[in-house]
Amino acid sequence: MEFTAIKGFKDILPEEAGSWQVLESTTRRLFSAFGFQEIKPPLLERTELFSRSIGEETDIVSKEMYSFKNSKGRGLTLRPEATASVTRAYIQHRLYQKNPVQKLFTIGPMFRHERPQKGRFRQFHQINAEIFGDPGPKSDADVIIMAMYLFDSLGFDDLSLNLNSLGCLECRPAFREELKGYLRDKTDALCSDCRRRVEVNPLRVFDCKVEGCIQIVSEAPSILEFLCETCKVHFERLIGYLERLNIPFVLNHKLVRGLDYYNRTTFEIQTTRLGAQNAVLGGGRYDGLVKLLGGPDHPAIGFALGMERVVSLLEEKVASEEKNPDLFVAALGGNAEKVCFNWIMELRKAGMWVEMDYGSKGLKAQMKRAGRLGAKKVFIIGEDELASGKGVLRDMETKVQDEVDLKDSVANLLRAMG
Ligand code: HAM
Repeated sequence: MEFTAIKGFKDILPEEAGSWQVLESTTRRLFSAFGFQEIKPPLLERTELFSRSIGEETDIVSKEMYSFKNSKGRGLTLRPEATASVTRAYIQHRLYQKNPVQKLFTIGPMFRHERPQKGRFRQFHQINAEIFGDPGPKSDADVIIMAMYLFDSLGFDDLSLNLNSLGCLECRPAFREELKGYLRDKTDALCSDCRRRVEVNPLRVFDCKVEGCIQIVSEAPSILEFLCETCKVHFERLIGYLERLNIPFVLNHKLVRGLDYYNRTTFEIQTTRLGAQNAVLGGGRYDGLVKLLGGPDHPAIGFALGMERVVSLLEEKVASEEKNPDLFVAALGGNAEKVCFNWIMELRKAGMWVEMDYGSKGLKAQMKRAGRLGAKKVFIIGEDELASGKGVLRDMETKVQDEVDLKDSVANLLRAMG
């Protein structure tokens, strides 16, 4: 039997690793300038944490979670997203006691049993950023601007920032009723899932991918017309911050996002280059979640970026940045091999990428390997060189050869390599 990765789970191969590293290092640099600290919650949590946070009626909880029971019969789930886990950790470790405003980020895999397709996997990776403890639109602007700057640093220029407000407990009920009324008139044309959603959670109809339902919601009433004064002012102030920094956005009143914890600001960054799975980042405010999970009444906002989708758009650029060893040491004969083995370790410790053959091949084979690896220089040491006390350093591009004194060879090599 041949083992292959299971459906929807994918290997990230060495040739792709460069793009992942660029994405991670750009993120870390930018996020630290915005004052975010890293947190690493576990991948496995109690099932109720997700069902309560994300909502029983959502696609994620109703059909996409990898859940099982442990030996005590307790339901456990591989996290489908990170916000619930980060919030649980925020509450459990009382992170708010150290700092009333906590800015946290986490990078790692998530698991959703969705139908795999281009840009959609069952194990995928997200970069999550969350701010706890600030209710105002400035923290909304903070996370949205940080997200836009991240894409800017990565060289993306085709993105569209979609913005909406879902209102609050004051104003959303009136909108829900209005939407219910609108949808009830059209139940016959809705899919069977949406017919049920009309009564339990009508906003979820906006997420439906069935053509008939998309048609119906395209003419649905807009939540933006129903915002109370506080939500309206919050949203307008956020828009002001974005406009003053010339961050372009489009208002999209159908952007309800697929998770129930959101209130007020929601946003999604979309690209035209990915087909159906066009969202590279999504987020919003979730002021009620900390309290819902048993913590203090602290507001929060955040987003998650889909790393596979972003990396797939990055790949071309990073693949062209080839990486090659600084030096290949060609040792010929048992004595030279022993001496060179010690040298390469010292050179590596000093930070130089040095390669040496694991076997005992002849010069021709070793030069061939050095060429294949793209080594910039080759240091050749055989019995003759050991006897004369001088090794040969060959520049693979110019073919120029220099002699290097073997006394203090490591220091001499480091110097000769610049
Ligand atoms: P989400 O919209 O479910 O939000 O996921 C965020 C991003 O993760 C998506 O925009 C997409 O790029 C990526 N993503 C989601 N599912 C998949 C998949 N099956 N395969 C590949 N990529 C995928 C959340 O997860 C929220 N927790 C975001 C958030 C953080 N809201 C507040 N804080």
